[in-house]
Amino acid sequence: MYPLLFHSVLSRLDSERAHRLAFAAIRSAAAAPGVRSAVRVTAAPRHPELRVHALGIDFPGPFGLAAGFDKNAVGIDGLTMLGFDFVEVGTVTATAQPGNEPTRLFRLIPDRALVNRMGFNNDGSAAVAARLARRRYGRRTPYRPHAVVGVNIGKTKAVPESGAIADYVTSAERLAGHADYLVVNVSSPNTPGLRDLQAVAHLRPLLEAVRAAADRVAGGTARAAAPGTHGRVPLLVKIAPDLADEDVDAVADLALELGLDGIIATNTTIAREDLVTARSRVESIGAGGLSGAPLRRRSLEVLRRLYARVGAPGENGIVLVGVGGVETAAHAWERILAGATLVQGYSAFVYEGPLWPRRIHRGLAELLAASPYATLADAVGADARKATA
Ligand code: FNR
Repeated sequence: MYPLLFHSVLSRLDSERAHRLAFAAIRSAAAAPGVRSAVRVTAAPRHPELRVHALGIDFPGPFGLAAGFDKNAVGIDGLTMLGFDFVEVGTVTATAQPGNEPTRLFRLIPDRALVNRMGFNNDGSAAVAARLARRRYGRRTPYRPHAVVGVNIGKTKAVPESGAIADYVTSAERLAGHADYLVVNVSSPNTPGLRDLQAVAHLRPLLEAVRAAADRVAGGTARAAAPGTHGRVPLLVKIAPDLADEDVDAVADLALELGLDGIIATNTTIAREDLVTARSRVESIGAGGLSGAPLRRRSLEVLRRLYARVGAPGENGIVLVGVGGVETAAHAWERILAGATLVQGYSAFVYEGPLWPRRIHRGLAELLAASPYATLADAVGADARKATA
């Protein structure tokens, strides 16, 4: 069904319009009682053996929706009903902003890839915090299960680099109390200067300030009482695949030194390598971050490098989140064996459609059953351990 819909309708629409339509359909389904019960039954089988305990949180499984799809936290219920084990909302900035001029989202269909230069279009952290608060303390029904929600924050475009830390701190203060985990995004290519914050000299004070801001707030929230969290919202950093290997190592070392909770690898790339799409078409699209299948190799490489540096997550170690080019359960499994405790995807959702999270789930359950590992946790990093044995 979905391939037909994609090729006959969605792929003919402007990409951003198709995104809006598809997302509106997901949200309406979540709001209509008849549809949502049907969706929950057919599209979200749970495999208890895929449960993951990480970051002090019980995840129903390891596979989540990456940041950028639900920038404003408006579709968490629908996305969870489709079978995503967690949803990372954002990127959210301190001040609401429209993002870059359209057209700003493009499909490279032969490559199963996307290029975007959205530029953090979002409602701003005050509005998103209010929305998350309403959701968190709103009525729970059998069709409104608990969902794990990460919140990804970035810098407001109009704020100069000298004000970057204060900008992130504002968002962290507003959002930390409403997030299961918080992500400092320093890796999107569409906000000028943002990725320079990945240099350790900039990243250290930024992460320290966000950590302190989140702690000031989280101590006064419901989260403080949640078991295993020590009252702190877990803090992760999301990095670019375009970092040189030594810079990946430097971020890993800094994360260890600061006691960060996790690293998300990776964001989109500015590279345009190994593409099937005609060069003239790629050039006509222009600047932006490339995601999807062509990103897989480098994202996996960065993940392996991080795991070699930070090791197994253990009780208080660093949790790695693998993202970039994951299209199948085998790809997700490959990330887990390489050291990822959690895995995310975005672009393949566009190409594969609403049943995609469910397929990944079922496939992961089968792969785990066929493996020598009793639990997913045993499988995390198994390839890396084998290589060094
Ligand atoms: C993204 N991504 C992203 N990441 C982020 O940290 N903040 C954001 O706002 C966005 N926005 C965004 C918009 C669009 C249209 C796309 C396609 C992607 C990056 C995303 O979370 C993920 O890291 C990459 O897309 C790589 O994963 P996939 O798409 O290859 O599975």
